[in-house]
Amino acid sequence: MCGIVGYVGPRQATPILMEGLRRMEYRGYDSAGIAVLDGHHLDIRKAAGKLGILVDEIAGCPPHGTTGIGHTRWATHGGPTTINAHPHTDQSGRIALIHNGIIENAPAIKQALLDRGHVFKSETDTEVLAHLVGAFYEGNLEEAVASALRDVDGAYGICVVSTDEPDVLIVARNGSPIILGIGDGENLVASDQSALVEHTRSVVYLDNGEMAILKADGYRVRTLTSRHVDKPVNQIEWDLATIERGGFEHFMLKEIFEQPESVENTMRGHLLEETGNVRVYGLKLSDEQIKGIKRIIITACGTSWHSGLIGKYMIEEMARIPTEVEYASEFRYRNPIVDAHTLVIAISQSGETADTLAALGEAKQRGARTLGLVNVVGSTIAREVDGGLYLRCGPEVGVASTKAFTSQVMALAMVTLRLARLRAMSLLDGQRYIQAMLKLPSQIRSILDRAPEVELLAERFANATNALYLGRGVNFPVALEGALKLKEISYIHAEGYPAAEMKHGPIALIDENMPVVVVAPRDAVHAKIVSNIQEVRARGGKVIAIVNAGDEEISRLAEATFIVPVTLDLLTPVLTIIPLQLFSYYVAVRRGCNVDQPRNLAKSVTVE
Ligand code: AGP
Repeated sequence: MCGIVGYVGPRQATPILMEGLRRMEYRGYDSAGIAVLDGHHLDIRKAAGKLGILVDEIAGCPPHGTTGIGHTRWATHGGPTTINAHPHTDQSGRIALIHNGIIENAPAIKQALLDRGHVFKSETDTEVLAHLVGAFYEGNLEEAVASALRDVDGAYGICVVSTDEPDVLIVARNGSPIILGIGDGENLVASDQSALVEHTRSVVYLDNGEMAILKADGYRVRTLTSRHVDKPVNQIEWDLATIERGGFEHFMLKEIFEQPESVENTMRGHLLEETGNVRVYGLKLSDEQIKGIKRIIITACGTSWHSGLIGKYMIEEMARIPTEVEYASEFRYRNPIVDAHTLVIAISQSGETADTLAALGEAKQRGARTLGLVNVVGSTIAREVDGGLYLRCGPEVGVASTKAFTSQVMALAMVTLRLARLRAMSLLDGQRYIQAMLKLPSQIRSILDRAPEVELLAERFANATNALYLGRGVNFPVALEGALKLKEISYIHAEGYPAAEMKHGPIALIDENMPVVVVAPRDAVHAKIVSNIQEVRARGGKVIAIVNAGDEEISRLAEATFIVPVTLDLLTPVLTIIPLQLFSYYVAVRRGCNVDQPRNLAKSVTVE
């Protein structure tokens, strides 16, 4: 998604802006640009393509000046061209603006401005907004921005500068994150804390409808209707080293290998072995409120939707509460049945996914109590829900979600325990789950120690053009997630299916050229999946099976097996997904794909 960075202070802005944009590259983009003020002179440079193209463009003669804004754009209105890249200026050329989000009523505003003689260069809604600010400008940039935004419908995170006020940054947010970085004699702004952390850890999160005026020596926060707002200053916990690769070739591999620690961090401080329960104050759910829950809806996108499916199995098995899992993009536009007895759980690594945020808003409007299982502290979803639980798995930089997935499953297991122990789950069962959960980090580590085995497997199948992933029960969502990992980073077409469903269509695809990955731990449905493997073999299919040690039956049938440790059935996804993450990674590397920034993908989809 788009990245925003801004600086005002004593230092040259250009290197700070470019480094900030580089730190946000992982979010996915297709053009970049900066605008730097040197007194009353505005120097704008922008280029389509990756940041390196812009770096080359400015290398010979970098813009000079100590106030500036920078942007990486993921095209929504208009193609990824240099003309459409941000920053955009108003009619006079004095005001420059960068923008994340979508201005819904841009066409109407553009027509009104065209009628007043405005001339536009680009196809973007952002340029329309810049012209609107310019149209309202009468010598006070802050008020011109506020007036323009009062006429705007839609989501935005913006940063604006003007040649008339060269020492001021004006920022505003409505639906797209804007974070102020509070420095010593300088101030910054960004859409992602990774762009701030090397300069300051003191940050202020703007909320919807708020704007801020930043100068080198201070800042002020207000609403569009000019009411002053006091905001707390938060501290970023993650330092740069945490974000850096830590010696791994790619962020994705680093994050796969972080899972023993990230799973541990998700659980840390919450498990009460003695009572077989959990303590998660953040849920803000009393026993009475929990007893009043009649239905649960889990809503999310992508990988987070897959972890939600696992949550359904957990909650219905252990807490006996009817649970549905909904794609957020579908939930938000249908007419869902939600009331005060419905608990809606939003799952999101970034906490900024537009569809999930919108689904949450729909649920709240209909009276549901809401929970958020979110990784990014202070993110929009985290601040919109009634309660929740931070994943605490650390920054996930690789676009393909890995450690967030296992942390989401752990968070769902804890929420399930909290619900179940007030209902059908016994003390002993609660203790049994907690003991099994506490063993998972070391079990994950034992799998990671055998990563070279997966790498060899990947070499054998890296040239496949299609792949089928099969699983049953709580490992059916693991099959979906394994398939998503492979397709999104190696561009091999891969489908996940419930193993028994294969007979109703996909079996037609099976031949000796298509690997069939079967997730088959020795759980309650093990015997059933053995017969599915036999069906695949009977058609010449090559099976890669994820099994427990000693599974001679499947080992005889499969082309290749990978052993994972034994745990409770409902916790097996935390282990069975690890070899599938590694498999997709090694296949993608062998195919020379851009593992951390796959084509067309974004780390956080903050537009519809
Ligand atoms: C998964 O690898 C993808 N990055 C994508 O499906 C992602 O899970 C989805 O966009 C949801 O993102 P969120 O968890 O930040 O809401």
